[in-house]
Amino acid sequence: MTEDLHQLAAEAEATLHAAKDSAALEAWRVRYFGRKGVLSDVMARLSTISREERPAYGKAANEFRQTLDAAFAARQEVLRQAELAEALAAEGVDVTLPGRPVSLGRMHPSHRTLREIYAIFAEMGFQVYDAPDVETDENNFQLLNMPPGHPARDMWDTFYTTTPGVILRTHTSPGQIRVMRQYCPEPIRVILPGMCYRYEQVTARSEMMFHQVEALAVGHNITMADLKGVVISFARKMYGEGRKVRFRCSHFPFTEPSAEVDMDCIICGGQGCRVCKYTGWLEIMGCGMVHPVVLRNGGYDPDVYSGFAFGMGVERPAMLKYRINDIRYFFANDARFLEQFV
Ligand code: PHE
Repeated sequence: MTEDLHQLAAEAEATLHAAKDSAALEAWRVRYFGRKGVLSDVMARLSTISREERPAYGKAANEFRQTLDAAFAARQEVLRQAELAEALAAEGVDVTLPGRPVSLGRMHPSHRTLREIYAIFAEMGFQVYDAPDVETDENNFQLLNMPPGHPARDMWDTFYTTTPGVILRTHTSPGQIRVMRQYCPEPIRVILPGMCYRYEQVTARSEMMFHQVEALAVGHNITMADLKGVVISFARKMYGEGRKVRFRCSHFPFTEPSAEVDMDCIICGGQGCRVCKYTGWLEIMGCGMVHPVVLRNGGYDPDVYSGFAFGMGVERPAMLKYRINDIRYFFANDARFLEQFV
């Protein structure tokens, strides 16, 4: 390097060293590397220099540039580290502070209740069978002994899709057809949980969507006594050992005979209260022996096989259990409601 370039480099390094923050560093960069900066002056001088001196000057100019580059990079790094250290000191994290709690999800009260139901039926040897929410009119009604125009359909007005004959199921009973058709001629012992949909006025007591759990047993020599035994064991495991259970004659097109099951009111113990409408009884499910037509639709010969089925709601018992007074809370997605179920 020539003398004056040495001099320039020394100056540059000195002023660079004096730059104490990134603003000063930037000012330095503009001064030395800028378009009208020192380096470009030094390079421009090359053309004014005599041919003989040019190679030596060119080499020196290059060294000058390299010196500046290296010094700048080093200074930049020093300042970066200093700024980082300063920021760390200023915004320091106190690792001894307790962490922010991660909010955990909770079990939805419907699913809690479903799981209790699964556990009780699992003990009795029932498997869980998943059937779809979107069903055919055929499975939901026709194969369950409700041809088009059957008056019982009024009880289960539904939502229709734009595909003719495809609906949202109004109950879990169409799953019976699916299970039977899949397993025929094997014996069956399943529960079918899931959402059901009804085109209904939504009130504190009824929603247009809700869960049901269906149970189906098909085999040889299955009788009404089996139905009653399973229902009573279930009610006592679910609601308490001392529960009284009664079967009331009823009608469903897909069972024969049919019954509705009541148990003594868990709120008042059968004394009569607002919840049981002063009857002392709460209805918990519909049930019956699988209708021969339905067995046949599932592939089973009703002269050889018999079966029972029942279907119950899930939100209603959850309401009783957790003293929830409005069914609409279940699907309103309000965290203030859901948070109460730990
Ligand atoms: N599917 C009926 C309902 O939704 C309940 C039921 C199921 C009744 C099985 C009898 C047998 O009301």
